[in-house]
Amino acid sequence: MYSKILSTGSYLPEKILTNNDLAELVDTSDEWIRKRSGINQRHIIAENETNSDLAAKAAENALKSANLSPEEIDLIIVATFTGDKLLPSTATIVQKKINAVNAAAFDLNAACTGFIYALTVGDQFIKSGFYKNVLVIGSEALTRFTNWKDRGTCILFGDGAGAVVLTRDANADSGIQHSCLNADGSKPTEWLEIPAGGSSKQPSHRSVIENEHYMRMNGKEIYKFASKIIVESINEILMKSDFCIGDIDYIIPHQANIRIIESAADKLCIPMERFIVNIDQCANTSAASVPIALDQAVRSGKLKKNDKIILVAFGGGLTWGSTLIVI
Ligand code: UT7
Repeated sequence: MYSKILSTGSYLPEKILTNNDLAELVDTSDEWIRKRSGINQRHIIAENETNSDLAAKAAENALKSANLSPEEIDLIIVATFTGDKLLPSTATIVQKKINAVNAAAFDLNAACTGFIYALTVGDQFIKSGFYKNVLVIGSEALTRFTNWKDRGTCILFGDGAGAVVLTRDANADSGIQHSCLNADGSKPTEWLEIPAGGSSKQPSHRSVIENEHYMRMNGKEIYKFASKIIVESINEILMKSDFCIGDIDYIIPHQANIRIIESAADKLCIPMERFIVNIDQCANTSAASVPIALDQAVRSGKLKKNDKIILVAFGGGLTWGSTLIVI
């Protein structure tokens, strides 16, 4: 049994924050942000919206394209680290919102690599015969955890959700072909973390004053790690498959910084046109970035049947991973 990607969906909140808007909040400029990150704007969740609203809308779009009713979904996995609440899981809230009454549901946190991990978990449930239809969602409300006074992070992040419906299929030549998942927990968590709000540092007056409920990042260390690991992860998945880089039609990378993608193109000796990029419009949406870019590429007609595509991501933890799919 194999997992086929039956459909994709995504949702971006309506409100847009431009680089010029940010320049009114912190000491930065449109020119610096474009040049150093490739970002022009980001979508921002509305005051009355939640992560599960974004996830449910992306899921509904995917279900509509699959022509599947919510009752037919056996499992919902939401990859996120910015869920509605610590308890219960966002996946159970999504289950209610989309009326997937027969589905099991859980969240998965692998930071920006979350969607690759979740897709691989969903794939295993299908390959083992345990489930037939799995809804895999990457959804983030990152701006709820953004310190708007920290120019080192606030310029990078945006909100949104992307989803795919996986289904059981007898055909080995399409769908998910191979996956590689990796982690290195030995690096300092300070490189990319939300220090307070978990069980190691409970919320307190002091933690709020010190902005410890917001994301903190050592941009330089993460940049060095990401630029190296994106190439290693692509090479690792190629080694697992019978393909070489020349056989791959597109790479859909985590949208963290355009310079990381450009350096990967350079090291792999392939043109930038082979990468699907939307960082200029959506910024870094963590676990949502790969499925949003995938859905946009499917809907724009860029991806054709039988195209071979590598999805690749990296992030906090540290975590990284890649998946080779055939559309
Ligand atoms: O999704 C998880 C993975 N995340 C990532 O992959 C993010 C990886 N990191 C990055 O993308 C980059 O490190 C950033 C975009 C965050 C920063 O770019 P950079 O080229 O690494 O900048 P930098 O931190 O080396 O700073 C260069 C200069 C510094 O000034 P001095 O010391 O040279 O005078 C900074 O203070 O730019 C300054 N700077 C800024 N200037 C204007 C830093 N942030 C800003 C800003 N606007 N927003």
